[in-house]
Amino acid sequence: MQLNLKDKVVIVTGGTKGIGRAIVSGFLSEHSRVYFCSRTPSSIPHATSLFLSTHHSSTIHGSVVDVSIPSQLQSWITEIVEKEKRIDVVVSNVSSISVTDTEEAWRNGYETDIRGTVELVRAALPYLELSRGNIVTISSVSGRDVDFTAPSPYGAFKAALIHYTAQLAHTLAPKGVRANTVSPGNIYISDGVWGDIEKNNPELFNSQLAKNPTGRMGKAEEVADAVLFLTSERASFISGANLVVDGSLCSGVQF
Ligand SMILES: NC(=O)c1ccc[n+]([C@@H]2O[C@H](COP(=O)([O-])OP(=O)(O)OC[C@H]3O[C@@H](n4cnc5c(N)ncnc54)[C@H](OP(=O)(O)O)[C@@H]3O)[C@@H](O)[C@H]2O)c1
Repeated sequence: MQLNLKDKVVIVTGGTKGIGRAIVSGFLSEHSRVYFCSRTPSSIPHATSLFLSTHHSSTIHGSVVDVSIPSQLQSWITEIVEKEKRIDVVVSNVSSISVTDTEEAWRNGYETDIRGTVELVRAALPYLELSRGNIVTISSVSGRDVDFTAPSPYGAFKAALIHYTAQLAHTLAPKGVRANTVSPGNIYISDGVWGDIEKNNPELFNSQLAKNPTGRMGKAEEVADAVLFLTSERASFISGANLVVDGSLCSGVQF
């Protein structure tokens, strides 16, 4: 299947680790021009050299941006547009992963997951309208099922992201901009969230692993492939979807 993502200008938040890193790598494999961010300055050159070691001569650019700070997001988008003159795809991947029921966690969850996505879309939208581009938000199965993360802001804000993305899909369809959500289930990455839980809370790890009817957790690349497909012309009539990538972890029927 030809995705035809070559030379598309793609922005991914949180690309130095985990699912974001796999999404960046996926777009680089398609020869897209990829811009990613994270908050940790030292992680940017490290991730960039890893990307370049597997995708020689790719256009890849990392920046230190905290998505919970709207002025940083705005400057980042302005910088990219000054250089590229266009934006084709934005992937809002970052979450504060706030799984405690405290005032601080609710504030962080709102500022990072919700405001971080809304401000990213607001800044990029004029350019996405010009390119008839694509928005993908990364939610979670915790947004559709009440799971081990409850009670906390995590699932509540992930559900809000699915609704917000559907609103974008509906209101932007006449302008040719598509918006979709990808909702991963448990995704195992050795230096990621489930790798940490495996080391520090093996009981939780084993109980969650046992809930996966496939007998395994997902791979970051399996989530990235869903994102790439949705942003490609192969998905030209798909907008407002919530694509659950969970190996059938959720047992509820999604209508
Ligand atoms: N892993 C799973 O099993 C799973 C399951 C369902 C949904 N998800 C969703 O998938 C997305 C990615 O999760 P992940 O597991 O890949 O996370 P991760 O391994 O913790 O990676 C998060 C990435 O985002 C960056 N980041 C975090 N906060 C940021 C901020 N405020 N501004 C800019 N960058 C920031 C991190 O770098 P710095 O820390 O250096 O900033 C890192 O590059 C999240 O939306 C998560 O809710 C994950």
